[in-house]
Amino acid sequence: MKKILITGGAGFIGSHVVRLFVNKYSDYQIYNLDKLTYAGNLENLKDVEPKSNYQFVLGDITDEKFILELFQKEQFDGVIHLAAESHVDRSITNPNEFVVTNVLGTVNLLNAAKAIWKGKEEGKRFYHISTDEVYGTLGNEGLFTEVTSYDPHSPYSASKASSDHFVRAYGDTYGLPVIISNCSNNYGPNQFPEKLIPLFINNIRYNKPLPVYGKGVNVRDWLFVEDHATAIDVIYHNGDNGETFNIGGHNEWKNIDLIRVLCKVMDEKLGREPGTSEKLITYVTDRAGHDLRYAIDSSKLQRELGWKPSLQFEEGIEKTVDWYLANQEWLDGVTSGNYLNYYENMYGNR
Ligand code: NAD
Ligand code: TYD
Repeated sequence: MKKILITGGAGFIGSHVVRLFVNKYSDYQIYNLDKLTYAGNLENLKDVEPKSNYQFVLGDITDEKFILELFQKEQFDGVIHLAAESHVDRSITNPNEFVVTNVLGTVNLLNAAKAIWKGKEEGKRFYHISTDEVYGTLGNEGLFTEVTSYDPHSPYSASKASSDHFVRAYGDTYGLPVIISNCSNNYGPNQFPEKLIPLFINNIRYNKPLPVYGKGVNVRDWLFVEDHATAIDVIYHNGDNGETFNIGGHNEWKNIDLIRVLCKVMDEKLGREPGTSEKLITYVTDRAGHDLRYAIDSSKLQRELGWKPSLQFEEGIEKTVDWYLANQEWLDGVTSGNYLNYYENMYGNR
């Protein structure tokens, strides 16, 4: 039985990766290590909880001693590292937290893997999940490739860039079997409603203003979260050590155009007059350091490992809206903070 550590598995993308691995690989024991910050929600994994090849570990990647002891005890065969502070706006108000979690936390994991795997690196893998935001911003033309220079502009992207550098440095210096992917913006079920799409779905539901930063002309390249999870599966199993893969769906949207589509779908689903939700659009002061455009060239991943996204955006956005409307309890629990009691209720008396 292979032992795989997934960090940040209670978060948005992590929960989809945990579900995929637990269901697909009955011969793997999946350990989900998560601190359960505001972004971690075990309700995301209710269906996975009873499976015998799944185990939750409450813990903090910034706790060096705890991480080393965990690696010593469990002797993991592989690590898929997603735990991070992930929201750009929060990084602008509290950059230090991003340095500690994203940089030091990653280095702690690297040190533990290096110590435990020393001389036994064969067949091991340290897979670091990163973002396209490390590449900075594009103008109106061009795409990020795996050789685009790093040029981060927000404290979030600077902390992710730094962690990527450490991962590569550990590969080069210590021969640690590392691999990295950089993905574009994800959307789909279970995303914390601070990010654009779930925030706006929730605000439309309650007829609250939709705060569009600046003129709404910034462009993001959106990928359905389950497609990111399948890409992670393919890269984890078939990518070569030392490689980097960009992941994206060739699906660029100007924010304001995407918001209009979202408003239209929400009007249809809620049985509102066409145009009702668009009236909620409110232009607000732009985000500081706001990158103009992200767009990913994922042709290497498609060519070398045969991955491609399964969903068209129109289908993905409808699926996403349907999920949030069908799971209003989840959304209400997250916005009210009630989800924070889930761990206590579930594990408190064990
Ligand atoms: P998220 O904020 O939804 O989840 C992060 C998870 O990490 C949470 O469960 C949180 O509790 C956990 N965590 C935070 N600090 C921790 C710590 N010190 N110790 C242990 N666990 C901790 O994030 P997400 O959107 O799911 O992103 C996951 C990863 O993917 C991140 O590394 C992010 O940089 C990367 N990424 C995200 C996107 C995106 O669009 N969301 C795109 C590309 C890459
Ligand atoms: P976000 O979901 O925060 O992802 P990222 O900043 O990592 O790309 O934001 C996506 C885009 O939407 C980004 O250009 C900022 C913009 N945005 C708004 O206009 N209003 C908002 O309230 C939020 C959260 C984001």
